[in-house]
Amino acid sequence: MQKWCKVLGITLGVVVVLGVVAGSITWAVLASQGPPPPEIKDLDWWEHTIIYQIYPRSFKDDNGDGIGDLKGITSKLEHFVETGVGAIWMSPIFVSPMVDFGYDISDFYDIQPEYGTMADFEELVKKAHELGIKVLLDFVPNHASTESVYFTRSEARTPGYENYFVWADPRTDPNNASNRLVPSNWISQFGGSVWEWSDTRQQYYLHQFAKEQADFNFRETGVKIEMLNIMRFWMEKGADGYRLDAIPHLFETAPDANGMYPDEPLSGNMFLNPDQPGYTTQIHVRDLIDLYDVVYAWRDLSDQFKEETGSDTKIMLAEAYANITMTMLYYGNERDRQGAHFPFNFDFITSLSAGSSARDFAYMINRWLTYMPYGKVANWVFGNHDQKRMPSRFRDNMVDGLNALNLLLPGVAVTYQGEEIGMKDGYISWEDTKDVSACNQGNPDNYLEYSRDPARTPYHWDSSTSAGFSTNTSTWLPIAQDYREINLEAQKEAPRSHYKVYKALSYLRRSETTLSHGHHHIQALTQNVLVVVRYLVTYDTIVLLFNVGTVPDTADLTRVEMITGPLTVYESSIHSVRVNGNTIQLGEVTLQPGEALILRAPPT
Ligand SMILES: *[C@@H]1O[C@H](CO)[C@@H](O)[C@H](O)[C@H]1NC(C)=O
Ligand SMILES: *[C@@H]1O[C@H](CO)[C@@H](O)[C@H](O)[C@H]1NC(C)=O
Repeated sequence: MQKWCKVLGITLGVVVVLGVVAGSITWAVLASQGPPPPEIKDLDWWEHTIIYQIYPRSFKDDNGDGIGDLKGITSKLEHFVETGVGAIWMSPIFVSPMVDFGYDISDFYDIQPEYGTMADFEELVKKAHELGIKVLLDFVPNHASTESVYFTRSEARTPGYENYFVWADPRTDPNNASNRLVPSNWISQFGGSVWEWSDTRQQYYLHQFAKEQADFNFRETGVKIEMLNIMRFWMEKGADGYRLDAIPHLFETAPDANGMYPDEPLSGNMFLNPDQPGYTTQIHVRDLIDLYDVVYAWRDLSDQFKEETGSDTKIMLAEAYANITMTMLYYGNERDRQGAHFPFNFDFITSLSAGSSARDFAYMINRWLTYMPYGKVANWVFGNHDQKRMPSRFRDNMVDGLNALNLLLPGVAVTYQGEEIGMKDGYISWEDTKDVSACNQGNPDNYLEYSRDPARTPYHWDSSTSAGFSTNTSTWLPIAQDYREINLEAQKEAPRSHYKVYKALSYLRRSETTLSHGHHHIQALTQNVLVVVRYLVTYDTIVLLFNVGTVPDTADLTRVEMITGPLTVYESSIHSVRVNGNTIQLGEVTLQPGEALILRAPPT
């Protein structure tokens, strides 16, 4: 509030009249000259924040056992304040046999002992809130560990739990009555049939991920109620919202009247064997329309909780790898239902890569903004614990430009741990491989195609033992070899570094109304040069120029109507010869491969 008031006062010499209308603060501004400034809408805490994903196992180890923990995270919360991060979301910290490193939960109401205690969690939340950092948890509703009481009760047909999971009888083999066949040809995301036999219950259960992760049956009312109970439990403990895991998989096609499941059509992909996802086209196991009502009900709970308790907004972020139509539906149905606050935008992961042109970038960015329902908030994701790290998918020299896109595009910026210092994938040998996806589908020759371990190596705090992650020389995954060159401490000391660029842009993002409230214009100026213009009448224009290619390229800035010259370099990628304060005339400008310039221009 104070800041906007000051910005308006200084730049325009205006009279500001403050009115409080229906609980929301609106500004009426009378400019003495020039065009009137736009109405500045008060934003909710999350609408223009930076959300930072922590992979708890690899962030900071406090007790020296080589595994990251909650106390470690608590000890590093100041890093987020310094970096300008507004919220953290943590991959699962709940009790788990760790087959899929926490995505196989056996007790949804307690903390994994390796990571700490409930008291440690409460301390983390308390300190984070004191520092102004929100804490989001990972909600894993699709499945539970087969060691959970939900599963053991269901397997034993305990009343009330019989249908908690998806159980099915075998198909009979017409040629051999004593042969047991799986109910359908559906393939797990980690390879192999989704169906696993239970000797106890003498039926198959369905698992879309590892066989130790049994899929909940979301057609069962008891399951839906239990999910709401879990959500409420952690909201009461102070969680500020949830990242919703693997949401497209919540429902599968129901069996017919005879209890028979339909087969998926074959994809025709000749390079895959029948055990690999992709061998079939998944029309029965993902994106079923039924799942959206469940997501909308979770949003209702979040809104209800806020209303009942007067808390800040509890946000819901959907993890959904889906096509654009099914993705946008997570925002709500555009009639009467609100959905997730946003579905993660994975376009920079799934649709853009080192080979993409500036036109590809402009197209994908504009595509999200075009399909997004009116009034909703965009977001940008560049990496996570399931994907190769950002510089490893693109190129090392693109780190600053990609972080600049993340921080300067409208909406929420999502950063995976290490992106702010340009951490790359670590090398993990077959012997050291831990990921169930790689172990199930891979062998010593091809496991790296499936392994998510390289993106999960511990964070590089400094160049000391185990990169400052742990006092233990042995860590759950090895430290990436490049930690002496790429680490936070070194980047704080260097005159120019990825971290310093990130921090400067994070500051710009918080201080410029143009970035929080302005319009956007995103365009390819040439094959390689992308321009992002953020503008808002009476406020400075912010421009990003980014050469996404591998050759120098010259762009003509006079082609961009929204820019008025001259432009001043606010920040530049670390190898750029243009430094802060340099002036760029409105004309031709040549950018080196990967070069990014963040420029300030007079209001348009
Ligand atoms: C029939 O199936 C059972 C169980 O898989 C197997 O042990 C048996 O050998 C099969 N019989 C024939 C004739 O293939
Ligand atoms: C998206 O996926 C849904 C569900 O699989 C399908 O019905 C629809 O045709 C797809 N739309 C596009 C634009 O691909």
